[in-house]
Amino acid sequence: MKRISLTRYLVEQQREHGRIPAQLRMLIEVVARACKHIAIAVNKGALGDVLGSAHSENVQGEIQKKLDVISNEVLIEANEWGGHLAAMASEEMDSIHLVPNRYPQGEYLLLFDPLDGSSNIDVNVSIGTIFSVLRKVGHTHGVAEDDFLQPGKHQAAAGYCVYGPQTTLVLTLGDGVAMFTLDRETGSWVLTATDVRIPEDTQEFSINMSNQRHWAAPVQRYIGECLAGATGPRGKDFNMRWVGSMVADVHRILSRGGVFLYPWDAREPEKPGKLRLMYEANPMSFIVEQAGGLASTGVERIMDIVPGKLHERVAVVIGSKNEVLRVAACHAAGDADASSAA
Ligand code: AHG
Ligand code: MN
Ligand code: MN
Repeated sequence: MKRISLTRYLVEQQREHGRIPAQLRMLIEVVARACKHIAIAVNKGALGDVLGSAHSENVQGEIQKKLDVISNEVLIEANEWGGHLAAMASEEMDSIHLVPNRYPQGEYLLLFDPLDGSSNIDVNVSIGTIFSVLRKVGHTHGVAEDDFLQPGKHQAAAGYCVYGPQTTLVLTLGDGVAMFTLDRETGSWVLTATDVRIPEDTQEFSINMSNQRHWAAPVQRYIGECLAGATGPRGKDFNMRWVGSMVADVHRILSRGGVFLYPWDAREPEKPGKLRLMYEANPMSFIVEQAGGLASTGVERIMDIVPGKLHERVAVVIGSKNEVLRVAACHAAGDADASSAA
């Protein structure tokens, strides 16, 4: 079989299909190279100084792991000097990171969750990096946080890398989804899947069941119906999978279908959800929709949300089309029940 590298794939996207400008090609190459460096650090495990806590706290109030900090630094350093970016934003940084004056400024904005699944690092379970690319649309010189506050439907590209049994890069440029596997012998990303499609139906759901008592009624109802199995209203048995790294749970859904939920819950009622709109939900939504799936909060499409702030959180229901529609129907039925009771 002919081996196509990520470099060749991107050159062909630029040259033959005119799908991406040179700056975006450069950006994806640089992010992919940074992911390779992160993969090497991840693989060192106890042999390197990469496990355990960094004893610092991020803007979300979470204790950072050493690999959260290392991965963030790798992505910043790799992307600063190439001339393709105007600025970056990360789950691990309080505010946006401007490209230093000594380097040329490009037209793109890069957002990332440098290390997703932090609680799985020290136990040798799959983790990943998630990224999202926006165009800087304002014509003013310089860049501000406001430039980042665009709905996910305006993303120019999105992707993630899973550091698992294999290291896999998944990418969308807005025209389908492609997967690349890292060949450790040659150090190159090799195209291993194109036109990835998520089955519309599934019998597998993914949710942190320990939060069940805190969920709102529509999610209780949806999961209750799944758990009722073949003799319940769904008329079929469901299986459950929960890795605890969104990147790995979504990767399974890209590979064989399923639905992933991280809903609002009553533990922190003032927050719409746990996951971050700009670094997790939007890029995953773009990828999943490009593969024929759907991504919703339960009441609206995630990529239609106009962000109010950089570190905004959101409820997430993502994956196989018919299952996401079913969750949305439970929410709509909840509203109907509430209005008929009023
Ligand atoms: P991060 O490691 O980037 O903070 O993200 C972890 C997220 C997500 O990957 C996962 O689905 C979820 O948090 C798990 O959280 P809980 O174990 O608290 O349910
Ligand atoms: Mn994350
Ligand atoms: Mn993270």
